[in-house]
Amino acid sequence: NPIKPPELDKCGVAKNWVAGGTLLKDSCCPPLSESIIDYRIPPVLEMKIRPSAHRVSPEYIFKYNMAMDRMRRLPKDDPRSFMQQANIHCAYCNGAYDQPGQGTLDLQVHYNWLFFPFHRWYLYFYERILGKLIGDPTFALPFWNWDNPKGMTIPPMFLDPESALYDEKRDPDCIKPNAVVDLGLTRSTNPLQVVTNNLTIMYSEMIRANATVCDFMGAPYREGDPNSEAGQGALERGSHTSVHGWVGDYKGQPSGEDLGNFYSAGRDPLFYCHHGNVDRMWMIWQNFLPSNKLPDKKINDPDFLNAAFLFYDENAQLVRVTVKDCLDNLRMGFDYQRIDLPWLDYRP
Ligand code: C2O
Repeated sequence: NPIKPPELDKCGVAKNWVAGGTLLKDSCCPPLSESIIDYRIPPVLEMKIRPSAHRVSPEYIFKYNMAMDRMRRLPKDDPRSFMQQANIHCAYCNGAYDQPGQGTLDLQVHYNWLFFPFHRWYLYFYERILGKLIGDPTFALPFWNWDNPKGMTIPPMFLDPESALYDEKRDPDCIKPNAVVDLGLTRSTNPLQVVTNNLTIMYSEMIRANATVCDFMGAPYREGDPNSEAGQGALERGSHTSVHGWVGDYKGQPSGEDLGNFYSAGRDPLFYCHHGNVDRMWMIWQNFLPSNKLPDKKINDPDFLNAAFLFYDENAQLVRVTVKDCLDNLRMGFDYQRIDLPWLDYRP
């Protein structure tokens, strides 16, 4: 059977996996709600085009900053507030939720085929909340274009300490001017070598490593399954995790906060930009890869299609969403700015 959405009233204490699963002091459980609605994607009137974070205009940055600032100012118990939104990640990933009806078996949206769908829905509502806060229903989140040499630094708008996009818990080395994201965590000090290595990694994760659909998407995960870290898809395991580790501060913070730990990752606005690119890579893998050997990149298993999550939408209404409704980004109303894919030529 498919994974069922969590029972919010049974949300418990979350664990810090980086610190050996010790219990976290602060709760990351969401506010409760009387009613849950089955979410229906509204008709798409205008396609939102998510831009590369390295190519946006000052006007865009101003607008995004204003939206984030308003999100940070929402009352703490508003499910759309900055901390409540960050806590979604903690609750779904740090063992605060059990699988309904399965005793104390944790619900986990990483290391398996729920990884891409869960994060797509997460960003979808985050984006709609920001749009609502600035009265702009066309607002689109930026993506961190770390698969392209022109995007391999932290996008500058996230580095301004005065900005609502800033987070102080980041590795001091990654915020140095021109520090190149290290998708292989090679710790090489030669930036050109890191760029080349990054492109080779992207080629492998997007093309070479994927003999089956689950090699990319992650392993099956059904009701009653224990979580296994071995189930990660190639991109989740590789570049995605490396970016978390590269930005997370393992030197100055106790547990890699913020981006280097599930419970705190959503507290860095850069998280949503990073996952914009993760989602974009899924879209590209599904629709645009010429040399991929897989004829049909769909998973037709009902245990995948009917898996469900709960989110609060932009009106603070609790909604139930399913995996099958998020497989087509155009139907959801967003697309990505077209940028060339230089890694296509980096066959190792
Ligand atoms: Cu839910 Cu990048 O992790």
